[in-house]
Amino acid sequence: MRLSLRRWPSAGRWDLDMCGIIGYLGPRVAAPVLLDSLQRLEYRGYDSAGVVVLGADGAPTSIRSAGKVEALLDRIDGEEILGRVGMGHTRWATHGKPSHENAHPHRDCTGRFFVIHNGIIENFAELRNELRAQGHIFTSETDTEVLPHLIESYYQGDLVVATRTALGRLRGAYAVVVLSSTDPDTLIGARLNAPLVVGVGTDEWFLSSDLTAIIPYTRQAIVLGEGQMAVLSPVGPVVTTIADGAELVPRVIRVEWDVIQAERGGYPNFMAKEIHEQPAALENALRGRLLSDGRVEFSDWASGDQELRRIERVQIVAAGTAFYAGMIAKNALEDLAGIPATVEVASEWRYRPQPSTSSTLMVAISQSGETADTLAAARLARERGSFVLALTNVVGSTLAMEADGVINLHAGPEISVVATKTFTNQVACSVLLALRLAQARGSRGEGDIRELAAALRSVSAAQRQLLSRDHEFADLGAWLAEHRSAVYMGRGYNYPTAMEAALKLKEVAYVHAEGYPAGELKHGPIALLDEEMPVVAFATDSSTREKVRSNIQEVHARQSPVLAVVSEGDTTLADHVQFTVEVPRVPEVVSPLLTAVVGQLLAYHAAMTRGYDVDRPRNLAKSVTVE
Ligand code: G6P
Repeated sequence: MRLSLRRWPSAGRWDLDMCGIIGYLGPRVAAPVLLDSLQRLEYRGYDSAGVVVLGADGAPTSIRSAGKVEALLDRIDGEEILGRVGMGHTRWATHGKPSHENAHPHRDCTGRFFVIHNGIIENFAELRNELRAQGHIFTSETDTEVLPHLIESYYQGDLVVATRTALGRLRGAYAVVVLSSTDPDTLIGARLNAPLVVGVGTDEWFLSSDLTAIIPYTRQAIVLGEGQMAVLSPVGPVVTTIADGAELVPRVIRVEWDVIQAERGGYPNFMAKEIHEQPAALENALRGRLLSDGRVEFSDWASGDQELRRIERVQIVAAGTAFYAGMIAKNALEDLAGIPATVEVASEWRYRPQPSTSSTLMVAISQSGETADTLAAARLARERGSFVLALTNVVGSTLAMEADGVINLHAGPEISVVATKTFTNQVACSVLLALRLAQARGSRGEGDIRELAAALRSVSAAQRQLLSRDHEFADLGAWLAEHRSAVYMGRGYNYPTAMEAALKLKEVAYVHAEGYPAGELKHGPIALLDEEMPVVAFATDSSTREKVRSNIQEVHARQSPVLAVVSEGDTTLADHVQFTVEVPRVPEVVSPLLTAVVGQLLAYHAAMTRGYDVDRPRNLAKSVTVE
């Protein structure tokens, strides 16, 4: 079976790369296999790593380290770790900073049960309280650590039963591998909303978060389905359901991928992969935060309603793509929560800070959490007594460590230099923040909040629908690539989208592009318009849609070819535009989560047409740590 681009076998509702997982059981010495695999899994997560191996007598050797796999290798320093069963993990922090204590594997109180995990356990806080009340001692800040303690509490001589019972208590997303000194010939893997594959070799078996790790050892794999677990032992894997232990007949597939391709999940580059990860990333951002009744709770930023009612104004600072997310955040905070908000690029704000007081909330948005200007602005705001809330994708980043509160973007590692999935998750987290504040301040009725929450929840499916039409964008991208310049325009929530879409085209396709508020076009840029100047117009359903429509007519009258991004089924612009791209209908406040994807796909295909390296555009850096 040949696996093609869109047939990544673990693709499911949740196939976002975050932590890397590898388990081994077989005749080889496990440690070199684990360490070699961890190096290949490092593109998934790289803030800490660890391994545990069981010796012939069942005694575990566990070594963990903050930092990259190289730091783990330094720590091991050539020490021979014997044992033929083991597992390893590279981490991308979601709960708890990158540190030795938070690195996986995690263990129970007795040091018998070890767990590695990829995903987010939504109900970890209540489980931890329950376990603490029973006397369990926790040594990390992670959500993962509840699992080994749960297994310990359920263990009555049968590891498989204890693991299954413990897994039954978890809500959220997980791919886990469990190993125990009580059963030195057993390795258990289980998945729910996160990928896990079983590698099938000759008398040896692997468990991994993706195929990258196992390809050098075997081409045969079993892809575990949702809610399934695999118990590996020297007689082979037994696959069952987690819920009731019913045995299933596993389907073994043959993988014909090279390793490089596998690292990118079969996509030609990380930018394409990360664009396609957006629905899963969005679901991850909402997981455990957007509750079924529409209420919002942040386990990473547990602030009380009273505290939130004291906020008189919000100042948003950010750089680059994050700044455009900040513009959307400002709109959402004002529209939903009724709080006056300002947004400014951090490099400006830090040298001309706006008046702020202790009732000012500063929201610093930065995917890396390391942008020098954003950090400087946040420090200044703290000195002035403001509460600094960081929206960042890197839990252990400087910004996350220095801020008073953090909302983790949960987008998983973003490797391509240009921001894609971190942008949409910045927007999603900003809308969540606005809803949280609206709820605390009573600025919106319950019905309104429930409606918006439902809209937010529906967007990932709409993104998937849009991304399934990726091929339609190839010709449009090629068309943009023929031009030297382009204008993007939009209003309201799609004015920042226009700016971000133009930035994407500049960054990866090196086509000059201006992002403009559509109403401003006639005050300058209209002078540039002629048949050589394409205009991309965001004209989806919104309170200003009719205004954008007039702006499109103005552009059309100047002979500029127009590509209009409209809501599904809208044919009313057909006479004034060359191309239309339809996106599913959603409320205006969440529309950038779709329209931004259109901008990304246009830029991506324009760059591919021109033959550029989209992952490493010239002169750009993923995180700008200098002023
Ligand atoms: C660089 C990156 C951009 C990013 C900006 C801000 O310029 O190339 O993609 O938007 O920095 O980065 P931050 O990590 O603060 O979001």
